[in-house]
Amino acid sequence: MAAKGRLFFLLLVLCLFAGSRIAAAATNPQDAAALKSLKKKWSNLPRSWTKKSSNDPCDQWDGVICNGNSRITSLNLFGMNLKGTLSDDIGSLTELRVLDVSSNKDLGGPLTPAIGKLIQLTHLVLIGCSFSGTVPNELGNLAQLEFFALNSNQFTGSIPPSLGKLSKVTWLDLANNSLTGRLPNSRDDGAGLDQLLNAEHFHLNQNLLEGPIPENMFNSNMSLKHILLDRNRFSGNIPASIGVIPTLEVLRLNDNNFTGQVPAMQMLTKLHVLMLSNNKLRGPMPNLTAMNGLQNVDLSNNSFTPSGVPSWFTELKGLMTLTMQSVGISGKLPQELFSRTNLQHVILSNNQLNDTLDMGNNISKDLDLVDIRNNKIASVTVYGTLNYTNLKLEGNPLCTESLLSDTMLCTDQLTEPPSLYPTFNVQCKNPFVETIEFRSPSFGNVNKYIDELHKNLSGTLDNCTPNKLGLVPYTGEAYLKVELKACPVNQKRFNYSQVLNCFNLTLQTYKPPEIFGPYYVDAHPYPFHDKVSRAILIGVVTGSVLLVVGLTLIGIYAVRQRKRARKLVTLSDPFASWGSTTEDIGEAPKLKSARVFTLEELKLSTNDFREINAIGAGGYGTVYRGKLMDGQLIAIKRSKQGSMQGGLEFKTEIELLSRVHHKNLVGLVGFCFEKGERMLVYEFISNGTLSESLYGIKGVQLDWSSRLKIALDSARGLAYLHDHANPPIIHRDVKSTNILLDAKMTAKVADFGLSLLVSDSEEGELCTNVKGTLGYLDPEYYMTQQLTAKSDVYSFGVVLLELIVAKPPIYEKKYIVREVKTALDMEDSMYCGLKDVMDPVLLKLGGLQGFPRFLKMALQCVEEVGPDRPSMNNIVREIEMIMQDHGITPGSVSTSSSFSVDSTAKKFVPRFPYSNTSTSSTTFEMDSRAFEYSGGFPSQGSLQNNRNT
Ligand SMILES: *[C@@H]1O[C@H](CO)[C@@H](O)[C@H](O)[C@H]1NC(C)=O
Ligand SMILES: *[C@@H]1O[C@H](CO)[C@@H](O)[C@H](O)[C@H]1NC(C)=O
Ligand SMILES: *[C@@H]1O[C@H](CO)[C@@H](O)[C@H](O)[C@H]1NC(C)=O
Ligand SMILES: *[C@@H]1O[C@H](CO)[C@@H](O)[C@H](O)[C@H]1NC(C)=O
Ligand SMILES: *[C@@H]1O[C@H](CO)[C@@H](O)[C@H](O)[C@H]1NC(C)=O
Repeated sequence: MAAKGRLFFLLLVLCLFAGSRIAAAATNPQDAAALKSLKKKWSNLPRSWTKKSSNDPCDQWDGVICNGNSRITSLNLFGMNLKGTLSDDIGSLTELRVLDVSSNKDLGGPLTPAIGKLIQLTHLVLIGCSFSGTVPNELGNLAQLEFFALNSNQFTGSIPPSLGKLSKVTWLDLANNSLTGRLPNSRDDGAGLDQLLNAEHFHLNQNLLEGPIPENMFNSNMSLKHILLDRNRFSGNIPASIGVIPTLEVLRLNDNNFTGQVPAMQMLTKLHVLMLSNNKLRGPMPNLTAMNGLQNVDLSNNSFTPSGVPSWFTELKGLMTLTMQSVGISGKLPQELFSRTNLQHVILSNNQLNDTLDMGNNISKDLDLVDIRNNKIASVTVYGTLNYTNLKLEGNPLCTESLLSDTMLCTDQLTEPPSLYPTFNVQCKNPFVETIEFRSPSFGNVNKYIDELHKNLSGTLDNCTPNKLGLVPYTGEAYLKVELKACPVNQKRFNYSQVLNCFNLTLQTYKPPEIFGPYYVDAHPYPFHDKVSRAILIGVVTGSVLLVVGLTLIGIYAVRQRKRARKLVTLSDPFASWGSTTEDIGEAPKLKSARVFTLEELKLSTNDFREINAIGAGGYGTVYRGKLMDGQLIAIKRSKQGSMQGGLEFKTEIELLSRVHHKNLVGLVGFCFEKGERMLVYEFISNGTLSESLYGIKGVQLDWSSRLKIALDSARGLAYLHDHANPPIIHRDVKSTNILLDAKMTAKVADFGLSLLVSDSEEGELCTNVKGTLGYLDPEYYMTQQLTAKSDVYSFGVVLLELIVAKPPIYEKKYIVREVKTALDMEDSMYCGLKDVMDPVLLKLGGLQGFPRFLKMALQCVEEVGPDRPSMNNIVREIEMIMQDHGITPGSVSTSSSFSVDSTAKKFVPRFPYSNTSTSSTTFEMDSRAFEYSGGFPSQGSLQNNRNT
């Protein structure tokens, strides 16, 4: 028995040995020879192909997969930075199923007809190389082909009719080449694309294809989902047969020369995207009723018969993007259109729309662009809850005549909605980058969906190789581009096989959310190796020279090293550089609770300080809106290099703000002091400055009780600075542009850049250079240069008068304080003689409870000499008393302000009743720059500026 067992064991070992020999058997000689010959025409190959020791392609070469017979079945060299041409020897790899050499920009030349010999081929993928010449006829022999993508090359000539024989093809992509001629069809050419009954994708966009498309090109037996013929030179009628393909989801015929009438498409109930823009289509406006799948419709720039607003505007429930520029529609836009839940963009410029634009008060939350420029709109009704940035009405009668003419509503420029997803921008030394180009998304604004895409993609990619994934969308071009940037985790860079196997999205194995539509990817060249650094070589040479020359130089070298070491410390400790600059800025700031940000972090949060995220500018520099990784919105004040606010002011502001915490003061989140950059990071305050709300561009109409509450809030903030901060702080630049309003219209005092600590002096008086903003400046301080807390009180008194008058302190050469004092008449128990001076909005809205008392207090604040003025604490108490005595509770203030603008009446007509709910929903942001800091950073410069005006 034992002998038998031993024999069995021996046999087993032999079998195993034999098995492993088979697996390790050398690549089939014909294939190996072919591959080695191909290789001769290529440079920049993966290491595994060039190492002396690796002779066996099947076993060792990246991107080569073989079957049990050691025949090569798959050659995948996606994104390898290959250079060269594809030689005829490819035809010898007769067992090849998959050939994917996509994203090798320097791989090109004419495409060899020998590919036609690869009769087993199921996938031929040559995306984003530089192949040129004609598409070989012989490709029609690839009877097994399912996936056929030659897009984004430089092919010329016409599409060979023989491609009609590829009866198994589901994916046909020849887009973005320079192909010419007509589409081949079986009636005229013997064979043609109409025979591809299994094809789901005809992607032929961005070529030079021309001529009419015959009726027999399409039929109801086809399986087409995407027909992309946009950006060619097609002419003639759109074939009616296109309207009978029941599976169709995306139809793009835009930017051609199509003429005639649009055929009936009512059967296309699955169609999401219909783009017919920029053709010469005529006849009646297409009737899209019943096409209930439609999400993105663009019919712009055609010559349809002028018509009223089509009824399908209100019938299509799923619309996300509606674009119909210059198509001759007239009449009144229906309210229902704007309440579609998913609606994002409505672009109807250059039509004849007239009457009143009334979008109703149930507007889609996602709506972020309504472009109705150059129509005949006479008036607009806007409700209090409207909350988006872009309503464009320039070129309508209401803009020429009314008060609106200077507002953002009536300016020509479109502001791109702010991109609030910069957090997906990852950074590392060797990221793998590829561009995903979505050719037909349904949405107008990618921001809402990028989260989902990110989640979805990171899941897919992370399964293959762990990485940190960044996504940055680029809109504004014909198609939506999203740049995918993956950072390796736990390794310095990705290797060849990771790139080949993980990021090869060319075969569409990755399915994005359906709303993104068809896509392709284009990988950027990847640095697989370190470049041998010239710097290192030079370093080595320098080193030996040093050795030779001797001690002196070595001494210098040592000094330099020490400096370098100090620099390194700077990087890890932001305070180390404090005092090392030429300015005398004293010790490092004493911080409480402020966070130190790295430059990198702030770059990420603002998408590299993109212009679009800039929300204000002043003498000091620029203020950017940003979003931190945790989602917190921030405002970043970034100083210009060599700006007027010096290091000292920077430090003062950091120290002050980090010690000060009060709900009526703008909070400092942190700062960045790195590589010559000085940045302060504040909480983001959404509703802009008080001056904007009073007389700026925001069109907000504040009623009396809101103004009292704003006065109270800001007085509390200042009282805190004067009496509760330790040491006390004098603001020195109180003004309406330094009072910000948050989403609940709570006022917060901002900008402590000029503040001074009171403890530095005796008896609370400071002798300083006069700083501040003209119009708010305490005359006593100006004359004596003695700064006290009462100087802030004077400035605050001016703000209180602004709340009444709603004009800047100096306007039309008048000074607000003098104007009010002159007009004053206490006999008039209602308006105190100010009826002609005060804000007409207040007169209209009425309800001026406690007005005389408030005015009296404001005038006390602007008394000539400090001791006659009340303290901030007294002011707080007085406003509280006024509100209390008149039954105004600070919490229940409404600032709703629906208003209608009527160009014929030439004035704002506030619409009553304004709601009594406690939500202080703010009204109508015409401008995304809700957080205008400009002018909020006065330096000595602003004194001068104001004097000049
Ligand atoms: C459309 O046709 C006209 C002449 O009929 C030609 O000039 C124009 O270039 C064509 N446009 C396109 C996009 O092919
Ligand atoms: C549009 O087509 C529907 C039927 O699909 C029809 O009921 C409706 O009257 C048509 N509308 C116009 C304006 O022709
Ligand atoms: C709007 O235009 C239509 C068609 O031109 C016209 O019939 C209608 O009277 C106009 N309405 C207003 C209010 O001007
Ligand atoms: C209005 O905008 C603010 C930010 O400016 C946002 O927090 C709020 O959710 C928006 N409200 C609506 C109804 O969209
Ligand atoms: C691409 O990557 C997938 C894994 O995501 C892999 O299964 C597939 O074989 C790769 N494609 C090619 C052509 O190598």
